[in-house]
Amino acid sequence: MTSQLTASSLFTDLKSRIDARQARVGIIGLGYVGLPLALLYSEQKFAVTGFDIDRRKIDTLESGGTYIFRITPEEIAAAKANGFKATADYSQIAAMDAIIICVPTPLNEYHEPDLSYITDTAHAVAPYLRAGQIVILESTTYPGTTEEVLIPILEKENKAGLKASRKGAAGDIWVAFSPEREDPGNTQVARHDIPKVIGGLDPQASEIAAAFYGSIFRRTVPVSSPAAAEMTKLLENIYRCVNIALVNELKMLCLRMGLNIWEIIDAAATKPFGFHPFYPGPGLGGHCIPVDPFYLSWKAKEFDFRTRFIELAGEINVAMPYNVIASTISALNRQKKAINGSRILVLGVAYKKDIDDLRESPALTIIELLQKEGAVVSYNDPYFPFVGRGRKYDLQMKCSSLDHLGQYDCVLIVTDHSDYDYKKIVDEARLVVDSRNATRGIKSDKIVHC
Ligand SMILES: NC(=O)c1ccc[n+]([C@@H]2O[C@H](COP(=O)([O-])OP(=O)(O)OC[C@H]3O[C@@H](n4cnc5c(N)ncnc54)[C@H](O)[C@@H]3O)[C@@H](O)[C@H]2O)c1
Repeated sequence: MTSQLTASSLFTDLKSRIDARQARVGIIGLGYVGLPLALLYSEQKFAVTGFDIDRRKIDTLESGGTYIFRITPEEIAAAKANGFKATADYSQIAAMDAIIICVPTPLNEYHEPDLSYITDTAHAVAPYLRAGQIVILESTTYPGTTEEVLIPILEKENKAGLKASRKGAAGDIWVAFSPEREDPGNTQVARHDIPKVIGGLDPQASEIAAAFYGSIFRRTVPVSSPAAAEMTKLLENIYRCVNIALVNELKMLCLRMGLNIWEIIDAAATKPFGFHPFYPGPGLGGHCIPVDPFYLSWKAKEFDFRTRFIELAGEINVAMPYNVIASTISALNRQKKAINGSRILVLGVAYKKDIDDLRESPALTIIELLQKEGAVVSYNDPYFPFVGRGRKYDLQMKCSSLDHLGQYDCVLIVTDHSDYDYKKIVDEARLVVDSRNATRGIKSDKIVHC
């Protein structure tokens, strides 16, 4: 292990490289989180190398292309001009000063955390580590992952016997956890205005990580440990998941009582304190909200603890696509039509509006449920010309045009993309079932809210 003196000079050296924008940045996992982050560092004139195991992504980036809708080829070209490279070659880790891990953290088929992407990355990185680097995990995960899963692999499998710096025990590398807080499709808050929470394994790790993130984020928020930072991210997502479940449940009640939940939420939101609006929908989607809370439920069991809010919220949110189907069946029934054989156009398949992300989208479940009921289903989504196969679905459907909406027995709004002309859609459709209140302000007895 490095002596106190060497550790102190490695620290000063890395800090000054960061301050001078000379630190070389390695970002592992060039997906929705990693690629935008790589571009942010590149904009700030850091030399950035992106690592991914997906050859197609690397080839696309290396040829100046892009695979994320909101990232343009011009942005990739600008990053390349600043030295951005994409590679699958982990030996280049040795040349990096700061390494950020942004790989997926899904649930497995038993609804338990699947940390294989993190452990695979740790195994791949460890042999190339050298003294004086900082490794930061950004993937959302349960409290304890950085210390119990990541660090043991890094320490055991590096060739030089390097140790992570701990409180009171100087080491050779620094390790921190800093959660990603991106809100895809949100154009109101600039990425650099989102404060960055940082939990270093020791004060030096926190200080280096704060200097490193401070070069792109206006504010950094230090917490006492990686586990505190891991838990902060889960609290944020659980807060959202539970509040969405609450309004989803109240929506079901309001529908029965003949009340409009959106009108009520908007009225409640005029209260200038103590209320934050959340909106109901056809079910949860995305990589985070339907998944992350269960990372904590799983970990809690180790402490003989049941996270009942998470489980109840999960139960309510998972039921929402089934409620959409029940409302569609009932709306068709009122027109003396059976769902079996009805032609239904699902409008919007992305998990939320104005983004090109299908992961865990409730639209996928809804399409499958409609097909099981015998409906003839089509879809339209400007972000997806084709929906093929994913981890949990295999639809093989092509996007249908919005011409001749009158041919469908029902247009079912699942994702309220801003580009849709809802007035025109209602005018041309025979029946509109709206799970997002996208048709607000349009008066027509063809509209059924669900
Ligand atoms: N997408 C979001 O809005 C968001 C927001 C906050 C937090 N997060 C969290 O960030 C993490 C990453 O999410 P994402 O949306 O970017 O996922 P993603 O699936 O879009 O991207 C992950 C990338 O990692 C790559 N990868 C997988 N294993 C690898 C390995 N061993 N080495 C190198 N690359 C590897 C994949 O090929 C993929 O390109 C997750 O933990 C997620 O929960 C995501």
